Parts: sequence; C-alpha cells; structure tokens
Amino acid sequence: MVFSAIYPRLDVRVFCVLCISSESLMTIKVWVKSRLADKALKPVRLELCQCLRDLNLERSQRADLQVTEFRVLDVGCGTGDFLFRCANQITHGLGIDLDQDMVTYARRQAEQNQLSNLSFQCIDAQSLQQPMFDVGVSTLCIHEMPKPTALSVLKRMLAQCSELLIADYTQPKGWFSCAGIELDELMSGHYRHFRRYRASGGIDGYASEIGARCQRVCDSELDGIAIWRLSINQPG
Ligand SMILES: C[S@@+](CC[C@H](N)C(=O)[O-])C[C@H]1O[C@@H](n2cnc3c(N)ncnc32)[C@H](O)[C@@H]1O
Repeated sequence: MVFSAIYPRLDVRVFCVLCISSESLMTIKVWVKSRLADKALKPVRLELCQCLRDLNLERSQRADLQVTEFRVLDVGCGTGDFLFRCANQITHGLGIDLDQDMVTYARRQAEQNQLSNLSFQCIDAQSLQQPMFDVGVSTLCIHEMPKPTALSVLKRMLAQCSELLIADYTQPKGWFSCAGIELDELMSGHYRHFRRYRASGGIDGYASEIGARCQRVCDSELDGIAIWRLSINQPG
C-alpha cells in the first residue's frame, strides 16, 4: 500500500527487477533468505556454535592424542550462514543443499571472505557419499522432508558423522510462536511433511525409529526450536 502510494507507476515486477539488479543478480529467494531469515535465525546459529565448541572440547578430553581436525557437515545449508559463523572453529566445513541458487551464493560468499576451509555442493543429502565428518549439523531441514526421506537422511548422516546436532521445530510455549510457525509452514509448500513430522514426535520420534541415541541439548532462545544431539546407539 505505502509502496504503491509513493511510487504509483512502479508495479511489483519492476520492484523485483530493481531488487535483483541492486543485489548483483541474487535471486529474490536468496535475498530474502540471507537478509531476513538468516538474521532471524541468529540465536539458533550462536547456540549451535556453542554446541560445536562443547563437542570439540569433549572430543579433545576423550582423545589420548591431540585432536587437530574438526570437520563439520551442514545438511540443507541454505546460504551457508551457519558455516560462516563457525568457520574459525573448524578445520573444514562442507555445506550441501538441493537448491543451486543457495549453493552459488554460499560459494561466492566463501570466496569473497577468503574462507578456503569451507566448500559447498549442490547434492541431495540422500546420496551423500563423503568421507567421515566429526559433526553433522542440520537446521530446520528435517521437518520439511517427506518422512521416509527424513529417516534416510538422518541414517546417512549418522553413517558419515560421529555426532549430529539437529536444530528443528518442537512444541512452542507461546501462542504467538505457535501461530507464526503454523503460518510459515502453511505457506511453505511442505505443510503435510511438517504435520507428519509433528505427529511422529518430531526429532525424538524420528531418532527412535532409526534406533539412534538422542538427547535434547537445549531449547533455543527462539520459542518453538530446539537442538538435539544424535549418535549411533552403541549396544552396552
Ligand atoms: C528451511 S531451509 C533451512 C536452510 C538452512 N539450514 C538455515 O538454517 O537457514 C531448508 C533447506 O534444506 C534444503 N533441502 C531440503 N531437502 C534437502 C535434501 N534432500 N538434500 C539437501 N538439501 C535439502 C532446502 O533446499 C533448503 O535450502
């Protein structure tokens, strides 16, 4: 309304073109993700960075030899924002995503910031065939997958990574967050996957179906999101 009142001759398409050119050909989707969603998710990123530090500390206390490598995999990395935030804590980070635009943006950011320890690939997490990682991370990705895909991705991540940190939806405490998440998921195009995720008990439910050991690490400062730590359930 305000926009059309000030610029009556500009329609939405012209506005979109202006956005694209001013952001060096970044697509609107990537622009929205990097300028809005990534900023909103900052508390979760910082909490995950702290979890990574704790895991690394635990690892080095457990190991007899000095631990030098710390390799992290980010499944459904989007713009790569999480890996950029933890780049100085890790020796190598690989971000994978199905969306080529996100991967192109993340690669360009890594180049511009001369972060040679980060790489990004456009691949399906189900066909992941990389060497081992110390930690696999995924943020707000599992709930949007069809259940069989989510289970297969979690299994594959567990096979490739010693530990997983999964940040995803849980039951919100407040009605405002509850309505916000519901609305966001309704508009996202994967609402039925989200409902199935919720009906299955979220990450706890999925973890128990694949026989993983699952520990809820913390509730995020963002109401409705929690972080879980998953590992292979060792007998005994
Ligand atoms: C809600 S976004 C979250 C992005 C990012 N993790 C973040 O926190 O901003 C979910 C991402 O998962 C990606 N994704 C969904 N299914 C995937 C799959 N099977 N393999 C790799 N990426 C996938 C989507 O392309 C999307 O970028």
